[in-house]
Amino acid sequence: MDAGPSHPETLGAFMEELRIMVKLIGQAPAKVFVTGGAGFIGSHLVDRLLGAGHRVAVVDNFATGRESNLAHAAGHVTLHRADIAADDLVPLFAGATTVFHLAGLADIVPSIERPVEYFRTNVDGTMRVMEAARAAGVAKVVYAASSSCYGIPDVFPTDEQAAVRPQYPYALTKYLGELTALHWGQVYGIPVVSLRLFNVYGPRSRTTGAYGAVFGVFLAQKLAGKPYTVVGDGKQTRDFTYVTDVAEAFLAAATSPAAGEIFNVGSGGTYAINELVALLGGDVTYVAKRPGEPDCTFADVRKIERVLGWRACVSFRTGVGLMLDNVELWRDAPVWDREGIERATAAWFTHLGKERAVS
Ligand SMILES: NC(=O)c1ccc[n+]([C@@H]2O[C@H](COP(=O)([O-])OP(=O)(O)OC[C@H]3O[C@@H](n4cnc5c(N)ncnc54)[C@H](O)[C@@H]3O)[C@@H](O)[C@H]2O)c1
Repeated sequence: MDAGPSHPETLGAFMEELRIMVKLIGQAPAKVFVTGGAGFIGSHLVDRLLGAGHRVAVVDNFATGRESNLAHAAGHVTLHRADIAADDLVPLFAGATTVFHLAGLADIVPSIERPVEYFRTNVDGTMRVMEAARAAGVAKVVYAASSSCYGIPDVFPTDEQAAVRPQYPYALTKYLGELTALHWGQVYGIPVVSLRLFNVYGPRSRTTGAYGAVFGVFLAQKLAGKPYTVVGDGKQTRDFTYVTDVAEAFLAAATSPAAGEIFNVGSGGTYAINELVALLGGDVTYVAKRPGEPDCTFADVRKIERVLGWRACVSFRTGVGLMLDNVELWRDAPVWDREGIERATAAWFTHLGKERAVS
C-alpha cells in the first residue's frame, strides 16, 4: 500500500489530488476497507486514503456514524451498511488488501450500563472482522485500540509496556479486541498492528447521544452561551491528539512492515482542561471528579516515532483553533449542565466507586 501525498487542505485540493493520483497510477489501486468509516476518525481516514489514490470501501452500521461524515466523498467510496457483529462480512471483504478496523462502540458511560452490547460489537465484532480479513488474505490489518487500557497509569509518559488495567467495560472490550486482532495475526499469519489512540479530537466527532468527550461538551456549551462543565479542579491533563494526525498514523502503520506490534498514538504533550477552557474563553462550573479516571493521559510516543517514523504535527493551539473554526458542527449537540451530567453519569458512580476500582 502506498502512503501517497500528504493532507490536502481543502475539498477542492483534495479532489484535484485524487484526480492526479488516479491518472498517475493508471491502474486499479489497492482496495482498502475501513470499518467504522462513517464515524469520526474513520471518515478522516477515508479522506486521507482517497487522497492517496486508494479504492476505499466502508463497512458501517451507522450506530454512531453519520452519512454526512462521508457526504463530500459520495461516489468515491463503496459503502457497505453492515453490522460487524451480525452480518456475513466474508463476501463483503472479497478483494481487500488492507483492513482498518475502527468500527466499535466508543462511549464510556453506556458501556457501564450495557456491557453486553459492547462485548458483542467490540470483541465478537473484532473477531468476525479478523475472520473476514483472513478469508480475504489481506496484507495488513490496523486495529484502533484505546489508551483507556492503561487505566490509571503509574508512569508518565506511558509506554506500551505499562500495565493494562481497564477500569470500565469500554476499556476492557477495546483491549480484548486488541488481543483478538493480534492473536488472529499470530495464529493465521496476518500482519496486524494495533494503535492505542489517546484522546482524539477534531471536526465530525460524535455530537449526539451519550455524555462524552470534553471538546464536544464544551463547544456545545460555548454556542449556547452556557458555562463549561469542568470535571474536578480542571488541573487534570489529557493527551489531545488531532484527528488528521491520527489518520496519518493509520497510514504509516499500514505501509510499514511492522506486524504483531502495538504503538501508542499521542500528540507528544499533555494539556490541562483549564488550558483548554482558557483557549476557548468563557465561564466555568464544576462537576464531581469520577472514580476510575486518570489525572493525566500522556503517551510515550518514542516507539511509533522510531519504528513508523510518525509524529503528530498539529499543535494543541492550532487544533483548538480548527475546532473553533468548525464550532457550528456542534449547533445541534446536546448542551450539558451539572444536573444533566449528574443524571447521565449516575451508573458510573454506582459501579466504579473508588474502593471498587481495579488495581
Ligand atoms: N475518539 C477517540 O478518542 C478514540 C480513542 C481511542 C480509540 N478510539 C477507537 O477508534 C474507533 C473510532 O472511534 P470514533 O471516535 O471515530 O467513534 P465513532 O463512534 O465516531 O465511530 C465508530 C464507528 O463504528 C460504527 N459502528 C459501531 N458499531 C458497529 C457495528 N456493530 N457494525 C458496524 N459499524 C459499527 C459506528 O456507526 C461509527 O461510524 C473506535 O473503535 C474507538 O474505540 C477512539
